[in-house]
Amino acid sequence: MERGDTTTRGRGRRGVMQMVVIGVIASALGIALGLAINWFPAADSTQADKIDTLWDVLVIASVPVFVLVSVVIIFAVIDFRMRPGEEHLDGPPIHGNTRLEVIWTAIPALLILGLCTYAYVVLTDIEDAPASGQERRVVVTGQQFTWTFAYAEGGRRFSSSQLYLPAGESVKFVVRSKDVIHDFWIPDFRMKIDAVPGIDTTYRVGVVPRAVGDHDIVCAELCGLGHAYMRQTAHVLSPADFRAWAARQGRAATPAAGAGGAGQQASGPISADQAKELFVAGNQQTGATACGACHTLSAAGTTGTTGPNLDEGVADAPAAEIKTSIVKPDAEITQRYAKGIMPSNFGQTLSAGQVDGLAKWLEEVAGK
Ligand code: CUA
Repeated sequence: MERGDTTTRGRGRRGVMQMVVIGVIASALGIALGLAINWFPAADSTQADKIDTLWDVLVIASVPVFVLVSVVIIFAVIDFRMRPGEEHLDGPPIHGNTRLEVIWTAIPALLILGLCTYAYVVLTDIEDAPASGQERRVVVTGQQFTWTFAYAEGGRRFSSSQLYLPAGESVKFVVRSKDVIHDFWIPDFRMKIDAVPGIDTTYRVGVVPRAVGDHDIVCAELCGLGHAYMRQTAHVLSPADFRAWAARQGRAATPAAGAGGAGQQASGPISADQAKELFVAGNQQTGATACGACHTLSAAGTTGTTGPNLDEGVADAPAAEIKTSIVKPDAEITQRYAKGIMPSNFGQTLSAGQVDGLAKWLEEVAGK
């Protein structure tokens, strides 16, 4: 560089100072912007705050690295660019610089080691059981294309097509899949884990008291045609409301299971009450998915959005047509919905009496 036959390049000490000043200003602006952006939805679990802090630390650590690399590249491109008349010149010979190489290997290694350690500490921290030892267990089962939730409350076991949680309490989700890999994600809680056939995966969430309200549940693993529709809602209630809900579920589930069980095929249509119960909760024994997991129907109080809204969809359909829609869902499809999303096994998982009863009840209540 110092040789007289080539133009002197580089900026010397003053140039380096210039780069440092620009780098510091750009880093400060970048960090300020990174922290000002609202990256995530509401933070409604005790895990969410720690994860958000981890994110902020990663932003603070990565912006200066990005700025350093960018500034050096931009200055190098400007200072060492080829000028007219230099087309046939070789650059000065370059040899390795051991000290520089040691520095640029050691600093990133230390940085990564530090960030990994911190992330590991956060991970073990959010996986810890709550200090109180009080924890609810909810078994989450994914299947194309809905989630169901199994509870054990007050000695009663029941399952629900809707996720209800009490505010201010801790819950451990045990996540399973009946078919392919899904991913159980509640963005407001920040937590997300794959539902893998054949194994149980788990995560815990400490629902914060202010979380009362509705939170999206999303499937975050491409799992088939209905993946985009595999969305449900987590309803966070006050502890008193939750216990009232759980008490109602526990009582209602027992008679319906009996009414819907195998061995009753010969009997006539099930009653309207039994049909409603079947619509809301499905039948665990035979594997019949709850209709309400995917369909909105105000008469049943369900809010699923995977399939057509039955308050609108079957307003004028006669029972016979509804029956076909249940047993052969792909025969005629409401526009906007794809084939293969609704389970096609209701002919096997429901008895004739259950299908007849459901169709009869839906003819009465749907679209009203
Ligand atoms: Cu289930 Cu995507």
